[in-house]
Amino acid sequence: MANILAFSGSTREGSFNKKILKSAVTGAKDSGAEVTLIELSDFDLPLYDGDLEHLQGVPKNALKLKELFLANDGLLLALPEYNSSMSGVFKNVIDWVSRPTDDEDAPLSCFKNKTAALMSASPGHLGGARGLVHAKSMLENIHVQVLAKHVCVAQADKAFNDEGVIKDETTRLSIEQLGFYLAHIIDEDDDKDKTHHREVSMTIQRC
Ligand SMILES: Cc1cc2nc3c(=O)[nH]c(=O)nc-3n(C[C@H](O)[C@H](O)[C@H](O)COP(=O)(O)O)c2cc1C
Repeated sequence: MANILAFSGSTREGSFNKKILKSAVTGAKDSGAEVTLIELSDFDLPLYDGDLEHLQGVPKNALKLKELFLANDGLLLALPEYNSSMSGVFKNVIDWVSRPTDDEDAPLSCFKNKTAALMSASPGHLGGARGLVHAKSMLENIHVQVLAKHVCVAQADKAFNDEGVIKDETTRLSIEQLGFYLAHIIDEDDDKDKTHHREVSMTIQRC
């Protein structure tokens, strides 16, 4: 069963990205995944500063986030586009959790074997697509496998009903499918790993 960490790169109360994330979480759960949905506003963090890290170590909330990254195979990320790129809030989280926390800890350890699905929502006509290009490139450089499929919701200021659910069924379903697909891919990779380990141990036994 896939374990997935889900969060939005927006801390705004009425965030459109938080709303689309909920549909993706529904899809992932429908696929049988265990989903941990968090709000970054519950993990208040200073801006990354090397001197602060040197003097005080990695902040407690960054350690908690790192534990969550380590405990999950998948990342469901709804990322707002700020000035054609990702939000500072999201990038700051990545910068803090990327830090090694003890001598045994390899750099970027918490991104190892992670698969991510990305989505975005914006009042603009591109739905935040340009921000996802940067986010995808950054995540792949730190060893996260990012699904080629992503969803962008344009004109997000008009996209939701009073309950915060996406009005257009096709759009809502495509986001649910993104969550479903992420969970499915992780399960598939898991099965491949198990088969591979079985084959290796049988070969070892034969030797
Ligand atoms: C600093 C800043 C920069 C922004 N830049 C962009 C942008 O480049 N493209 C875009 O589509 N929307 C941009 N927006 C609008 C955001 O998409 C909009 O505020 C959106 O609601 C943020 O996501 P949220 O609703 O999840 O908080 C920007 C907003 C802010 C505050």
